[in-house]
Amino acid sequence: MHVLDDPVRQSLLGRHAHLARRVGNAVTYEEGVATFAAVPADPSQGDWDDLGRLLGSGGLADLFSAPVSPPASWPPVFELEGYQMVLDRPLTAPAPAPELGPADVPDMMALTELTRPGPFQSRTIELGTFYGIRENGTLIAMAGERLQPPGWTEISSVCTAPEARGRGLAADLVRTAASRILARGDQPFLHVAAANTTAVRLYERLGFAIRRRVRFHGYRVP
Ligand SMILES: CC(C)(COP(=O)(O)OP(=O)(O)OC[C@H]1O[C@@H](n2cnc3c(N)ncnc32)[C@H](O)[C@@H]1OP(=O)(O)O)[C@@H](O)C(=O)NCCC(=O)NCCS
Repeated sequence: MHVLDDPVRQSLLGRHAHLARRVGNAVTYEEGVATFAAVPADPSQGDWDDLGRLLGSGGLADLFSAPVSPPASWPPVFELEGYQMVLDRPLTAPAPAPELGPADVPDMMALTELTRPGPFQSRTIELGTFYGIRENGTLIAMAGERLQPPGWTEISSVCTAPEARGRGLAADLVRTAASRILARGDQPFLHVAAANTTAVRLYERLGFAIRRRVRFHGYRVP
């Protein structure tokens, strides 16, 4: 199996092991970092039991894009079609964007709450490096790193405040993140909802191509 076919588990067992909680073969992120959880490919009933113990009854089993489904007794919470995209053309040089740090987290949470690029929690910044642009002190655009399977780093939390859109800010931030990923020897990849045509077109224009269709899916632990 390619590491990009199971990026959550590959991150949690590798470069994000310091942010992981485990029971048996089931693994998830620490509270406040990310909701993603993973079991081995071709999981046994015992692996699902481990995940249930790890997340607790009533907990959200956010399987992200993993190609596995839990037992029928786990009610679905969400399901969304998406794409996994990889950079497959050289990048044009980015305008340098400043890094964001722990002091920026409240503003990052406010911007992601407003624009909804995907989940961003109080400790999500610990997953990688984030970049942002401020105007008159207000954070108006950001992007950062999330999953880190071996050899790859995912770009995520790409968002721009509604009044600042169409000025190339997201393009600059994605190029900044991608060039830093390439500079340390990784390849950039990302995930996007299939219905988010503005973002898909932006990523294609920057040189990303669809590697595979994915299904984001989450369930309630019985
Ligand atoms: C997708 C998103 C990050 C783009 O941000 P942005 O800073 O407007 O992006 P850019 O200016 O670099 O490129 C935007 C593209 O959107 C279109 N656009 C142009 N003006 C626009 C406007 N006023 N509003 C929205 N989109 C516009 C154009 O296609 C433009 O491409 P162009 O440079 O060829 O004209 C932003 O729309 C957003 O925050 N959306 C909600 C969160 C989200 O979906 N994030 C992606 C998660 S994968």
